[in-house]
Amino acid sequence: MTPPEISRRTLLELLVGTGVFVTVTGCSDETAPDDQVDTPPVSAASDETLVATTDDDAAPATAGAGEVQPLRLRLWAEPTTAEIVAGVTTPVYSFGAEVLEGDPASITPSGSYLGPTLHLQTGQRVQVEFENRIDDECIVHWHGLVVPEDQDGQPGEAVGPGASYNYDFTVINDPGTYWYHPHPHGRTGEQVYRGLAGMIVIADTDGNLPDGDNDLALVLQDRTIGSDGELRYATTRHDTMAGFAGDTLVANGVADFEISVRREPYRIRLLNGANSRTQYLTWSSGATVHVVATDGNLLPETVSVDGVVITPAQRSDLWIDFSTFEPGQRVQLLAADTFVESGSPSGLTLDARTAATFVIEDTDPMPGTAPTTLGRPPAFGPDDAVNRDAPKQFILSTRRAAHWINDTQWQGRAVTDVETVKANTVELWEFVNQSPLPHPMHLHGEAFRIVSRTWDDDRLADAWATISHGVIETGLRDTVLVWPGQRVQIAARFADHLGYFLYHCHILEHEDAGMMRNFLVT
Ligand code: C2O
Ligand code: CU
Ligand code: CU
Repeated sequence: MTPPEISRRTLLELLVGTGVFVTVTGCSDETAPDDQVDTPPVSAASDETLVATTDDDAAPATAGAGEVQPLRLRLWAEPTTAEIVAGVTTPVYSFGAEVLEGDPASITPSGSYLGPTLHLQTGQRVQVEFENRIDDECIVHWHGLVVPEDQDGQPGEAVGPGASYNYDFTVINDPGTYWYHPHPHGRTGEQVYRGLAGMIVIADTDGNLPDGDNDLALVLQDRTIGSDGELRYATTRHDTMAGFAGDTLVANGVADFEISVRREPYRIRLLNGANSRTQYLTWSSGATVHVVATDGNLLPETVSVDGVVITPAQRSDLWIDFSTFEPGQRVQLLAADTFVESGSPSGLTLDARTAATFVIEDTDPMPGTAPTTLGRPPAFGPDDAVNRDAPKQFILSTRRAAHWINDTQWQGRAVTDVETVKANTVELWEFVNQSPLPHPMHLHGEAFRIVSRTWDDDRLADAWATISHGVIETGLRDTVLVWPGQRVQIAARFADHLGYFLYHCHILEHEDAGMMRNFLVT
């Protein structure tokens, strides 16, 4: 069976349907900040743009036996400029931070518009004084961290320009790769696109993966920069309906990202920080892609594949041994779009572009082998679900120029029966994608297991078959790709934080347009 050719035009028609097209966001270039004249520019592309994830000098910040030193930060969002393309000054938004109390190595600058990497520890008390210095409402969400409702950075907590929000929570997540980004309703896509995002790394203390300088973080995004140096964002109906994709791939905030690496094994923490692109990543050398962690959770065992699929908001930590390459060799991480609207009858066009380049240094080769066993297997599964025999259904659809979940959209704190859950229970949820677009669905709170994928409509099954080997679901995830025509069942455990939490599509234009709801933990 061949997938139908969905042209840009027919897709738009599908999306628009018969209804009136709703303008979902007021984004235009006029919304670019205009008070950035005096703010210092962010440095240009160089090896320094590497987001260092660990610091050798930073001894574990322990205040005593088993005790973790608390951290108090000031974090702000501000308009500034950055050099995304070498030699071009681009107005951006950026997170900045300052350690008020605790280990100064808890933040490391990104060297680009991205916010500093926050190095947190399991068990650590974290206080953040967030200051909104942009001309728009804003709030910060710690994607993947399990925190109480009022610490989660939800749209209802957004504060206006000049206002602050104080966070105070304890990190209960395991070591892993997380991130932070704004979450004001209707404004998330544009704010992330203009630069508001950063990594959170909870370092392993006793892992068997490369650490120190051999532990890198790579944030993958895309941007369109006009000849005037300004970022272009979602200017057409198609952009807001299909999700906005920039024409230039950027890594760690710069185009043509390069980093030199020693001939040793590395851990590379990948975050897809793009607004809408789901990508299929491979090594230019044809080397096997070894995946060791997904969305903050070590896999039970390393998964070795030809390529890996990463949706917006997902993380995939890779293990790679650069000792197998020659000094001076350039090894590229290649990225191909996974969903091509005007695809050939044979399915996907896996036309790969360079996402990042690793230049092999002239060092003594120190070969390693990928660890086989990593984390513990997930502690819960479908058999633990309280609704084992009756999974809850969440129908994803696209009609009347909008995306829907169970025929509803964002309604603040209104919840339906299926959106009401009990603390400390496991439930089976089934996302049924009846829309013509893939949707990466994210739940706030604890990461979940993916139980099954079945087809209701297999017209896009051939296209899926070209990438399915790269969809890694043997561990926990907090964001799951739901392909058109598929029914994806997850087993989710709801933590003991009571209250309202979000679930939504992480294509930010879909989220902003209302493909986001709350669930209530009682
Ligand atoms: Cu990345 Cu609602 O989150
Ligand atoms: Cu989240
Ligand atoms: Cu979506």
